[in-house]
Amino acid sequence: MAVSSSAGKVLEDIPIFVWDAWLALVNLVLPNKKVGTVVPHGNPGFEGKWPDFVPPKEGDSRSCCPALNALANHGILPHDGKNIKFTEMTDKVRTTFNFAPSFCLFVPTFAANTLGKNYKMDACDLAELSLHNGIEHDASLTRQDTKLDPDQGKPHLPFVHGLLGSATGKDKDGNLTLTEADLSRFSGKRRAEARATNPDFTLDKFHKMFGSANSSTLLTIFGGKVSDLEPFLVEERIPEGWEPKIRSPMGLTFIAFNHTVLKVENGIKEEPVVQAVPPEGSNGAA
Ligand code: HEM
Repeated sequence: MAVSSSAGKVLEDIPIFVWDAWLALVNLVLPNKKVGTVVPHGNPGFEGKWPDFVPPKEGDSRSCCPALNALANHGILPHDGKNIKFTEMTDKVRTTFNFAPSFCLFVPTFAANTLGKNYKMDACDLAELSLHNGIEHDASLTRQDTKLDPDQGKPHLPFVHGLLGSATGKDKDGNLTLTEADLSRFSGKRRAEARATNPDFTLDKFHKMFGSANSSTLLTIFGGKVSDLEPFLVEERIPEGWEPKIRSPMGLTFIAFNHTVLKVENGIKEEPVVQAVPPEGSNGAA
C-alpha cells in the first residue's frame, strides 16, 4: 500500500490527490454511514454477514497482503487468487474496507505499474504482488524477509503474535487495542532485527512509508482492536459481524490516512540489536 509514488510519477498522480482532497471535504460535510451499513447494501459483508471463510488450498495463489488474501479466502476475490483484474481489486477493496475511491484506484494502479502491467486491461495472481521491493519490502510486521522465506503468501506467526502482544491501548468499550506508539515500537524492533539478520537487507525511505501505511490500516480500518486483528492476521479471515471502523461516507482518504501514517513512521526508533559482548580477557569461546 502506498502513500505516494516515485518523484517521476508525481505529476501523473496530481489528479488523484486533487480528487482525494475533494472527497476529504465531502467527508467533512456529509454524515457518517450508520453502524451496520458501512459495507454497502448488496455487497458481501453488508450488516457484518461475510461469505464463508475457506482457507487457501494447495495451488491457490496468495500474497504478502493479509487484506487481499482475506478477500480471496472469503471468495470476495476469486478463491484461487489467480487472474484477478486490477480494476476488480479496486472495486472489492472499496466496498469491503471503505477506503476512498482515490486510494482504491491509486494502490492497484501502482501495483500494476510495478509489475509492468496495464491497470485497466490486465490481471495478476496474488503471489505476483510479492515482487520484492515493488510494494513488498523487508522488515514487514507479518512476513519474514523474502531472503529468509521466499513464500510471502502466509503470515509468519511469531511476528503476528509479537505484534498483537505489544498492544497497550484500550478502546471506549475496554477492548485491548494497538496504538500508534505500539506500531512504531514494534516496527523499530522489526527493522533492527531484519537489518541484523538479513544479509541482503534493504529499506529505503519510500518503502519505510509503504510499511507504515500498511500497518496503519490496522489502526484506522480495524480501529486497532486486537480481537478482530487476531483472525485477520493469523488466519487472514474477516470475523463475523465485523465492519470497517472508518464510517466516512466517501471512505478513508489519503489526507485522513496520512495523519496516522506519518505519526507511526515518525515515531519509529530503530534501536540497534545488541550483540552479547564476551567478558574482558576471554577469547569469546563458550
Ligand atoms: C488496494 C490493493 C492493495 C494492494 C495492491 C496491497 C499490497 C500489499 C503488499 C504488496 C503488501 C506487502 C508489504 C510488505 O512487504 O510488508 C501489503 C501488506 C499489507 N497490507 Fe495491503 N494491499 C492492498 C490493500 C490493502 C488493504 C485494503 C488493507 C487493509 C484493510 C491492507 C493491509 C495490509 C497490511 C496490514 C499489510 C501487512 C504489513 C506488514 O506485514 O508489515 N492492504 N499490501
